[in-house]
Amino acid sequence: MSTYASYRHLPSLAGVCSLDEAMKPGLAVEECVRRLKRYHYACRRLHQIFTARITAEPVYELKMGFSLHAHLCAEHTTALRKRVGEMREPPLGLEAVPDPNLEIFFDEILGAPGTEELLLGLYELALPALKAALEHHLQETNRLADHPTVRLCRFALLEVDDMLQFGAQSIAALVDAPCRERLADWRSLLEDCLAAAGGLDGTQPPSGKTVPRRYSAKPYAYDGVPKRDHRFPDPYNMGVNAEVFLYDPQFPPEPKTLMMFYKRLREVDVPEMMASIITETAGKPWDYYRDMTRQLWDEARHAMMGETGFANLGIDWPAKVMINSTWSLALNTQLKPIERHAVLYFIEQGLMPRNGKRFEWEVGLASHNPLAALFQDYDWADEVLHARIGRDWYLKDFSNPQAAVRYGDECWSRVLMNWENWRQQGLTQHRNWWPDLYRAACDRWGTKPDPKVLAYATTYQTVRADLKELTGSA
Ligand SMILES: [Fe+2]
Ligand SMILES: [Fe+2]
Repeated sequence: MSTYASYRHLPSLAGVCSLDEAMKPGLAVEECVRRLKRYHYACRRLHQIFTARITAEPVYELKMGFSLHAHLCAEHTTALRKRVGEMREPPLGLEAVPDPNLEIFFDEILGAPGTEELLLGLYELALPALKAALEHHLQETNRLADHPTVRLCRFALLEVDDMLQFGAQSIAALVDAPCRERLADWRSLLEDCLAAAGGLDGTQPPSGKTVPRRYSAKPYAYDGVPKRDHRFPDPYNMGVNAEVFLYDPQFPPEPKTLMMFYKRLREVDVPEMMASIITETAGKPWDYYRDMTRQLWDEARHAMMGETGFANLGIDWPAKVMINSTWSLALNTQLKPIERHAVLYFIEQGLMPRNGKRFEWEVGLASHNPLAALFQDYDWADEVLHARIGRDWYLKDFSNPQAAVRYGDECWSRVLMNWENWRQQGLTQHRNWWPDLYRAACDRWGTKPDPKVLAYATTYQTVRADLKELTGSA
């Protein structure tokens, strides 16, 4: 074969690999599928952990990062399932645990008691093990025969590297040497799990060591109470009603962009709430989890668009804008998962008519703030997908669409927001922070505050009943 050459030295084998590489034995389909199931299990468990830890993670940047990483892991889980399904007839055995030691490994990370443990487990143990397995697969498989898997591994590695970079920076910022020292023991427990499993891909001889559970000795209990960091100093504040201002034609578009950035940033509560639905709903087809997690990530993006909008205006939002967490708190603690999904659907189906997302985009255009227009443009586009996800995974359980909307309305009406109660308990004074924010923005714009806009003081206390379809923003 040594004299064999391609025509005029054109790339042979479609450029996939060299002829020499194409002649190596590689992995048999049986072995390829066996390994793929282990990568699939890892991605699926990582998706579960990232999702479950969003709500109670106080640090905003980590909440956002976990939202993205949950989405990425869900997408790679989907690709791996599809590839296994291309090579094997059902049953595919994708729900089975491939190795009990891997189960302990991921259970331990899921149950990690603090943020530091969680970060180390995810970004210094689990994702590096996945990266090593994918790279090992690329080295060992026949790149011609197994090209669809090669492509899948290469794409996965791109995003695994992104996640690792985010993790390394986060750990450098949050985990110091004494903390690392304190966690050394648990870290070796995780390493023992991998060694007992013969590595994540199961290609090494298993150590034979029995690994005792520590943080997973008791079954994991999801914490659905949202937590926020110090940049959310007044989390019960419902003193500024964004929707009443936004829909009032007497107010000009420029200050309305501030209300839209506020509404967007407040959406940090949607991933907190959707994480609870995804975590507490068992037994759905995989595509349910994948679609819901895509939406969860979109809602995190919407929050970060609001953050970017304020940063672009030079506004110190933690000081000027009181972002509350009352919606995710109330839904997560008062409603069942299906009821929360019903509320989400009810709110989202109200966002599509003319007075919803299109209106917000038009306000953005009229305001001459190009960032507000761009963000609302994509926010609207995302909502088209979310409406479809709602139809696919919520609406189907009802005999007709009206009944589905009615149920959402009922569930939303049952939620107690305790406006006055929170004030009496001293949890918030519902301070009207609007004039302060508006003045700061006027300073940046170099304009004089409009007295009518400055005087805006409508809260969520009484107006909610009339505008209840407008009180949520997903
Ligand atoms: Fe949204
Ligand atoms: Fe949405």
